[in-house]
Amino acid sequence: MAFTLHTLAQRPEVEPHIDRLAEVCWPRFLRQHDDLGLGEHWPDLFTTFADFQFVLREPGGRVVAAGQSVPFVWDGTAADLPESLADIVGRARRDRKAGRTPTALSAVAALVDPFERGKGVSAEVIRAMTALASVHRIGTLVAPVRPTLKASYPLVDMERYVRWRRDDGLSLDPWLRVHERLGAGIVRIAPCTLRITGTVQEWEEWTGMAFPDTGPYVVPGALQPVQIDREKDDGRYDDPNVWMLHKGVSR
Ligand SMILES: CC(C)(COP(=O)(O)OP(=O)(O)OC[C@H]1O[C@@H](n2cnc3c(N)ncnc32)[C@H](O)[C@@H]1OP(=O)(O)O)[C@@H](O)C(=O)NCCC(=O)NCCS
Repeated sequence: MAFTLHTLAQRPEVEPHIDRLAEVCWPRFLRQHDDLGLGEHWPDLFTTFADFQFVLREPGGRVVAAGQSVPFVWDGTAADLPESLADIVGRARRDRKAGRTPTALSAVAALVDPFERGKGVSAEVIRAMTALASVHRIGTLVAPVRPTLKASYPLVDMERYVRWRRDDGLSLDPWLRVHERLGAGIVRIAPCTLRITGTVQEWEEWTGMAFPDTGPYVVPGALQPVQIDREKDDGRYDDPNVWMLHKGVSR
């Protein structure tokens, strides 16, 4: 199916669609305040970087997916990749302010309407990011990928998880696999791209679970256990991602 790409800069009226998709795509606990500061940078996506936020419409005009990304200066090394989503957007902002020419586009999110999943739309979102990079003469696309199936294996280290392969050599994880099929390779693990903390009661509300004791808990949608400390009335979750590099974006 041929999708039409509309950026937020071209069509400011698409912003509510991006908000709606974020609302339905992320587990509730991930939509809370990020201790690493993503909330402070979030508005920049919709203003400074409106050229890099977009939706995909199917031929009938319905919005089926959204992509969020920012351009930044990257020296090409694993060590120079930002640690968190807040770092990515903050760094893009500093680069823009200093007038530096971006060398890479970083994905921030790919969101496919739950009713449109399993139809290959996600690859179109990545292709759209590649196309945007190309339009802006940016030669590299990188993505902090949140492996979707990892939520079924929250007790396994991410380092081990990313090594799990199918017989065809591709990742066991379907979302990593989409990136691999498009030519991307793993650069490194990003152990904490978002940090969500709250009181035990907040965590119980966000997850619909009870946390009667101190300790680690497996929570639906979480890629590793949520740590609950009842004595300190504190719950904490670090969201790990996998940095992937897409080669061959043509300038
Ligand atoms: C991750 C996401 C973008 C994938 O979108 P999608 O359009 O449904 O993905 P596709 O149809 O291209 O399917 C991709 C792969 O996932 C597999 N898949 C789809 N739904 C699946 C499910 N529920 N369980 C396991 N695998 C699934 C598909 O079979 C396909 O793998 P294969 O072709 O190698 O067998 C979408 O699920 C989403 O928006 N999730 C919420 C937000 C998110 O996690 N975004 C990514 C992090 S930034």
